[in-house]
Amino acid sequence: EKGTYPHYMLKEVDEQPAVIRKIIQAYQNEEGKLAIDYSITEAVSEADRIYIIACGTSYHAGLIGKQFIEKMTEIPVEVHVASEFTYNMPLLSKKPLFIFISQSGETADSRAVLVSIKALGHKALTITNVPGSTLSREADYTLLLHAGPEIAVASTKAYTAQVAVLSILANVTGHFRNLEYDFDLVKELGIVATAMEALCDSKEEMEAIAHEYLSVTRNCFFIGRSLDYYVVLEGALKLKEISYIQAEGFAGGELKHGTIALIEEGTPVIALATQAGVNLSIRGNVKEVVARGAKPCIISMKGLEEEDDRFVIPEVHELLTPLISVIPMQLIAYYAALHRECDVDKPRNLAKSVTVE
Ligand code: F6R
Repeated sequence: EKGTYPHYMLKEVDEQPAVIRKIIQAYQNEEGKLAIDYSITEAVSEADRIYIIACGTSYHAGLIGKQFIEKMTEIPVEVHVASEFTYNMPLLSKKPLFIFISQSGETADSRAVLVSIKALGHKALTITNVPGSTLSREADYTLLLHAGPEIAVASTKAYTAQVAVLSILANVTGHFRNLEYDFDLVKELGIVATAMEALCDSKEEMEAIAHEYLSVTRNCFFIGRSLDYYVVLEGALKLKEISYIQAEGFAGGELKHGTIALIEEGTPVIALATQAGVNLSIRGNVKEVVARGAKPCIISMKGLEEEDDRFVIPEVHELLTPLISVIPMQLIAYYAALHRECDVDKPRNLAKSVTVE
């Protein structure tokens, strides 16, 4: 039930801190250490390459999961859009492990890949919100998202749950492999949950940004580098699907290779700057678009902020920024859709679970 909320989407955005806390609990053992089923840790650990398969928002979570897994476990990871994998199957490694990421667990494109890799005798792990879903039943292993039912078509809390569960999977596996990239993830995720609360309390600021930048525009660009790049892909998808504004997410450095031709006087460009290593270069990209007339909206992280930034998110561990930087993206999309009188929870042409290929 959406209770006092006008839309499920807003309610689900607000549930994110509680979902993160639930996930921490669900994946803790009696000693308070993060743990997942031994057979899963072992299966991931023994793989010589991991293939993440997903669609849409879940694919965007997978792109972030790749960074976590490679950094913490030193196992190479490829991330594939499910529908393309079917015909462009890459050359597989000798001991592949497939990870399917799917909120619903029913997505036909992902299932088609699962069927074909099972036929080849490979092992699969499904990360899903729905116990007993098709992708869960047909895989060898399942990790649950514990996000509770997600009703709004636009995925929000399932995305952050996917990213959080992937961080836990990577961390536990890295630990199992005695690798160095070992940080106190329980503590860091706790900090994330608190930061998420602060962001959920910033609705007025997000509404003001949506109003100022998106109430009349026909298009909008999102830019970011490093982990921020994957988050802007998600920001652009959220905006497109519920507000029908043509939105594109780009790697900051890639704009000048073509897309910058689209920047005109007043074109909104939302830039994410949460990564210390690329802070200067993303700000350079903002200058490039401003010189062509763009109207910039920089969302940065505490410690990296500059005077003209439109909004500053709280500081969290630099690997975990996607968990919180996505919230302004979700809320800006929400308020943009609201201003434009779109059906937020049930955008046109879309279904919650896509059961056709
Ligand atoms: C976007 C969205 C879709 C889904 C995609 C995959 O907000 O909801 O892009 O993420 O259809 O769905 P699942 O995760 O159920 O496989």
